[in-house]
Amino acid sequence: MADHIVMHCMIDRVSVLCGVGGYVPSSVVTNADLAGRFDTSDEWIRSRTGIRQRHVVRTGESTGDLAVQAGAAALKNAGVDSVDLVVLATTTPDHPCPATAPAVARGLGLDHVAAFDLGAVCTGFVYGLAAVAGFIAAGLAERVLLIGADTFSTILDPADRGAAAVFGDGAGAVVLRRGDAGELGALLAFDLGSDGDFVDLITVRAGGSKHPLTAGQVPDDHWFSMQGKAVYRHAVRRMAASAQDVLRQVGWRAQDVDWFVGHQANQRILHAVGDQVGIAPERVFVNIDQVGNTVAASIPLALTDATGVLRPGDKVLLTAFGGGITWGSAALIWPALPD
Ligand code: UT7
Repeated sequence: MADHIVMHCMIDRVSVLCGVGGYVPSSVVTNADLAGRFDTSDEWIRSRTGIRQRHVVRTGESTGDLAVQAGAAALKNAGVDSVDLVVLATTTPDHPCPATAPAVARGLGLDHVAAFDLGAVCTGFVYGLAAVAGFIAAGLAERVLLIGADTFSTILDPADRGAAAVFGDGAGAVVLRRGDAGELGALLAFDLGSDGDFVDLITVRAGGSKHPLTAGQVPDDHWFSMQGKAVYRHAVRRMAASAQDVLRQVGWRAQDVDWFVGHQANQRILHAVGDQVGIAPERVFVNIDQVGNTVAASIPLALTDATGVLRPGDKVLLTAFGGGITWGSAALIWPALPD
C-alpha cells in the first residue's frame, strides 16, 4: 500500500465563505516572560521565529471554551444563528473521548446539529475546509461552522524551551454556505497530502492505543515533541509544492495572488515558501508575532486578523503543514464581510 497520499479535487457545487471570527485567551506570555523561566531570550525567539508573544489558557479553560467564543464570533459576522453541521479541527480536544464538537455546538445553542472533530494537527483547518466543501457539494449540508482550536500549552513538556517559544493557544472559525463558483467568497480548489513515513517528527508518543498510559505510570513521552529542524525543511518544501499545485489547478500565476495566508508556524518558513512560489514578502500575511503557532487555529485566526487588509475580490491562497506529516492548500476569492 502506498504510504504517500495526495488528493486533488475541483468542485462544481462550491462552498462560499460568509463569516470569520477568532478568539485568544486573555493571558499573554511575552518572550521576556519565557526568558524568566528558561535559558532563552527575546532576541533568540524573535530572530528564529518572528514571535513576540503568545496567549495561553488559564487552568480550567479548555479548547472547547475557546472554540465556542470563536464560533460565536463567526456566526455573528455571517449574520446567522443556525447551521447544519459543526466541524472542529483540533489536536487538543477537551477529552480523549468523546469528540469536543458536540459540546461546542451545544455551547453555541446549536442543539442537535451534526458535529464531529477532525484531526490533522496544523493542517486541520485546511483539511476541514475540504471536508466541509465535500459535505456541501454532496448536498449533505447547506451551511456549516468550521472551527480550528487548540491549547498546546496543555500538552507541552514544561522543560521544552523550544516548544514554549513557538506555540500559543487560540481558536478561529469560518461559516461556509452553498454557492456558485462566480461568487465572492468561493472556495475554488484544494490540494491535500500526507506522508506517514514521518509520523515521529511531530508527536505525542504515549497516551494512544499504541502506547497506552497505564495506572500509576506517567511516562516522559506523553508530552508533545517536535523535531524542529527536520519539520522546518519539510514544511518549506511541502508547503511550496502544495501552494504551486493549487495555483496550477485554479489557473493563477504566483503574481496574481493578492494575499498568501499560510499556517503561522514560523515567520521564516512563511517567507521561504513565498520566495519559492514567487509571492512577494508584502503579500505574505503575518500575525505570528502576536499569537505564535496556534496549530489548527492558525489560519482562521490569521484570516480574522487580516480582515482589515483583505479586500472583496482578492485572490487568497491558504497553505498549511503539520504533523502526520500532512499538508494542504486552498484557493479562494475573498468575500465582502461586515466589519
Ligand atoms: O506547526 C507545525 C509545523 N511546525 C513548524 O513548522 C516548526 C518548524 N521548526 C522551527 O520553526 C524551528 O526548528 C524552531 C523555531 C522550532 C527551532 O529553531 P532552530 O533554529 O531549528 O533551532 P534548533 O531546534 O535546531 O536549536 C538550535 C539551538 C540548539 O542549541 P545547540 O544544540 O545548537 O547548542 C537549541 O538547544 O538553539 C537551542 N534552542 C534555544 N535557545 C534559546 C532551542 N530552543 C531555544 C530557545 N532559546 N527557546
